[in-house]
Amino acid sequence: MSLAKDDIKILGIETSCDETAAAVVINGGFVASNVIFSQIDIHKIHGGVVPEIAARNHIGKIDIVVQNALDEAGLGLNDINAVAATHGPGLIGALLVGMNFAKGLSFAANIPLIGINHLEGHIASAYLENSNFTPPFVALIVSGGHNHLVHVTDYGKYEVLGRTHDDAAGEAFDKVARNLGLPYPGGVQIDRLAKEGGPQAIAFPRAKLENLLDFSFSGLKSAVLNYINGAKMKGQELNHADIAASFQEAVVDVLVKNAVHACQTVGSSKLAVVGGVACNSRLRELLTQKCAELNIALHIPKPIFCTDNAAMIAAAGYHHYIKGNFADMSLNGTPSLML
Ligand code: KG4
Ligand code: ZN
Repeated sequence: MSLAKDDIKILGIETSCDETAAAVVINGGFVASNVIFSQIDIHKIHGGVVPEIAARNHIGKIDIVVQNALDEAGLGLNDINAVAATHGPGLIGALLVGMNFAKGLSFAANIPLIGINHLEGHIASAYLENSNFTPPFVALIVSGGHNHLVHVTDYGKYEVLGRTHDDAAGEAFDKVARNLGLPYPGGVQIDRLAKEGGPQAIAFPRAKLENLLDFSFSGLKSAVLNYINGAKMKGQELNHADIAASFQEAVVDVLVKNAVHACQTVGSSKLAVVGGVACNSRLRELLTQKCAELNIALHIPKPIFCTDNAAMIAAAGYHHYIKGNFADMSLNGTPSLML
């Protein structure tokens, strides 16, 4: 793509968990670069993300990741209109690295600074390389830390319809995987193993909540762990593939049911599914089937935009930029920032 002078080029920075990421996005949708340094291999030996180790590794990588994002886009810092960084929710030590780096760039290049809510970033992943997808729509955010249903009434306007009371879907995937002896992060491993098992082999529970758009996965997680421990105590052979498939089906069932119900509740015929768990093959399959039946236009970004990345942060930043919503140097990391 050859750039025009009035194209808006946003540099996005994301360090809320275990990915050090930077990207340049043009006009809120065209991804000129998307650089991700994943710390998965570093945290794998601990079975999950260690906050202090995450922060230290962000410090070691942030400058080269940002430089690579600029180089791959063929741009210098002086070509960038604004720098957008995640300031919450997430791990405080990790957030501070990307956010303070962004402050430094903003000050040095004299360009605006924009603070982005990580969940808003996930929602904006629906706009990447897809200029046809515009609000209003319902967004299902399913990741390791978050599980929300949101009515996106306009750019930057969010009405939270439902959220998890306890674990997020990805968290449940990771914990069940760990108990099956699978490496971190477990979602993709369960996805793979489930293909060899029976989704109806074991009747795991689905939580029923007062707000039909809320979620709860801790009861399901406990039921799976009890099933595993019970069988071990009785000396029974475990069929790991059946456990993975039946657990995955219980999660996917609820995600699909609630997402469809949310669309019907607000009268929307557009659904975006974002966040790491949106990579799940069974979730994609069942959603595609249900949405086709009900005439709901489904959009799931490609996997690299579903898991944590900075292109989504830059896309969200674009909409703040055109409204002139800028932060100043007092911007702080907020671990439990709400949408
Ligand atoms: O969005 P993300 O990269 O980080 C957060 O914001 O949390 O999501 C990571 C989560 C992890 O829990 C991971 O196990 C899960 O997404 N995940 C999957 C799959 N790929 C990643 N869960 C189920 N099936 C998958 N294929
Ligand atoms: Zn995320």
